[in-house]
Amino acid sequence: MSLSPVEVESLALHVAHMRGHVVIAGLGMGLALYNAVLHPAVRQITVSECDSEVVALFARITGPGWPESGRFSIERVDARDWRSPEPVDFLYVDIRDKVGASEAAADTRTICRNLRPKSAGYWGMEADFVLFLARKLLQAAGDASTVSGLGACASVCLSQPTTVALGSRASRMSQPS
Ligand SMILES: C[S@@+](CC[C@H](N)C(=O)[O-])C[C@H]1O[C@@H](n2cnc3c(N)ncnc32)[C@H](O)[C@@H]1O
Repeated sequence: MSLSPVEVESLALHVAHMRGHVVIAGLGMGLALYNAVLHPAVRQITVSECDSEVVALFARITGPGWPESGRFSIERVDARDWRSPEPVDFLYVDIRDKVGASEAAADTRTICRNLRPKSAGYWGMEADFVLFLARKLLQAAGDASTVSGLGACASVCLSQPTTVALGSRASRMSQPS
């Protein structure tokens, strides 16, 4: 947990997709929550957080600088087991400490099965995406017929969604005062 530029940048692409009822798995310092509350397309936010000390600390650090606290609630639960009573429009999962943690995608799949969100993302997703492309590139380079291998790699790369515009979005991110 931190408010470093890389933390802000890696959150920014997810905030851009938030709308309706947003579930954030992992409260941390509340950076994702703060930006969700400021997002005009977001109606309601539920945060699932398993650590009661994190929840208690958050209650102490939120003050008048925090907007519209009536729009969010915090459930003290294991995010991987919790079921939402309300339909979920966007899920953001951030319960791992290290970017590129192999469990992050698996956690997200588990939570998606429980919540059935319309769309979802997890912290570090863009790093996994780059690794996926790198693996494809290595596979293609290892092909006996390199020219057709690289052609196959290029078509895989071009067929992936390109969602990363971090520089411009990061400049629109906000931090709690
Ligand atoms: C990296 S921090 C989240 C950062 C946060 N998104 C922010 O914007 O500041 C990870 C948080 O996930 C919580 N956590 C870890 N495992 C969890 C689980 N299984 N269910 C719910 N919360 C969990 C930790 O207690 C911690 O508060």
